Amino acid sequence: MQIAVFSARPYDRRFLDEASAQQGAGQGHELVYFDAALDLHTAPLAQGCAAVCVFVNDRLDAPVLQALHAGGVRAVLLRCAGFNNVDVAEAQRLGLFVARVPAYSPEAVAEHALALVMTLNRHTHRAYNRVREGNFMLDGLLGRTLHGRTVGIVGTGKIGLATARIFRGMGCTVLGHDPYPSAAFADVGDSVALDELLARADIVSLHCPLTPDTHHLINDASLARMKPGAMLVNTSRGALVDTHAVIRALKSRRLGQLAIDVYEQESALFFQDLSGEIIDDEAFQRLMTFPNVLVTGHQGFFTVEALQEISAITLGNLADFAAGRDCANQVRAD
Ligand code: NAI
Repeated sequence: MQIAVFSARPYDRRFLDEASAQQGAGQGHELVYFDAALDLHTAPLAQGCAAVCVFVNDRLDAPVLQALHAGGVRAVLLRCAGFNNVDVAEAQRLGLFVARVPAYSPEAVAEHALALVMTLNRHTHRAYNRVREGNFMLDGLLGRTLHGRTVGIVGTGKIGLATARIFRGMGCTVLGHDPYPSAAFADVGDSVALDELLARADIVSLHCPLTPDTHHLINDASLARMKPGAMLVNTSRGALVDTHAVIRALKSRRLGQLAIDVYEQESALFFQDLSGEIIDDEAFQRLMTFPNVLVTGHQGFFTVEALQEISAITLGNLADFAAGRDCANQVRAD
């Protein structure tokens, strides 16, 4: 069985090949790697493959799924947790098996959220450059002691809980908002309504999935409810945040700091070297002009441990599909 792996970076090849070798020869599958992202133009690359293996910015809308199905594809293996880029109803109608990696080192993403907060709060990114130039002035590097501050976690699932535990360990007061609050979160923080969380938190960190309900959860109205000068952190999905509203809030000084690992229009930018190109995304370029904005290119998941888990679980999902077994990680429309 051939599997077309789209958006394959060298690290994807390394960890998938390692997991494949560990799971043993004789699994009867061959991984075929493509640098290209999956869309309607690249779907024909999967012609004759039984499965595609995709990532966050591959596009699996109805026309792409229909093209894949016509080419013989019967399974979609997501090597990520979120599946907002897949038209699951259409996949189900076509009889395609769709599986994801629901949990892999939630601490990897939580620790990256912490890294963003610590960097932005203490300006270590600026201090690094300053010191290398022989400038040892502290002006402009003033931070806040995080101990005793209030952190609001929106979405207290696996990653939100791991993030909450980290901040609790640092002596922060932790608030959470989730329509399905977990018992585990009750040990770490208080569950409150979203409005209360926004009004009380010095740092708001987003960890809920992107759904029609959560699209632009952070907009002009919710930003106006945030504490003046608060920090917003998004390591979940870009479209949780209305970028233009955030730019307005930064310009008016209402929003104090912004740290994002995901961006609404990231598919045109992230995971590519555009250092020699003209970037014509005006909103992204505007964000880059703010000294109190920190952006990383969707690297929250990017640890050795997480990539090993992603690869092993993805190939496990493939084995379930190939054997016709029930798969705990299958994504269904209902
Ligand atoms: P999870 O499913 O364990 O937790 C998500 C939580 O959000 C659930 O408890 C759910 O009830 C809650 N939720 C749903 N709607 C909500 C709403 N309207 N308001 C508040 N909470 C709501 O998922 P997990 O593993 O914690 O992942 C969270 C998200 O992180 C994923 O959906 C994905 O988009 C993102 N992610 C980002 C990565 C990165 O590299 N930056 C890597 C992995 C995941």
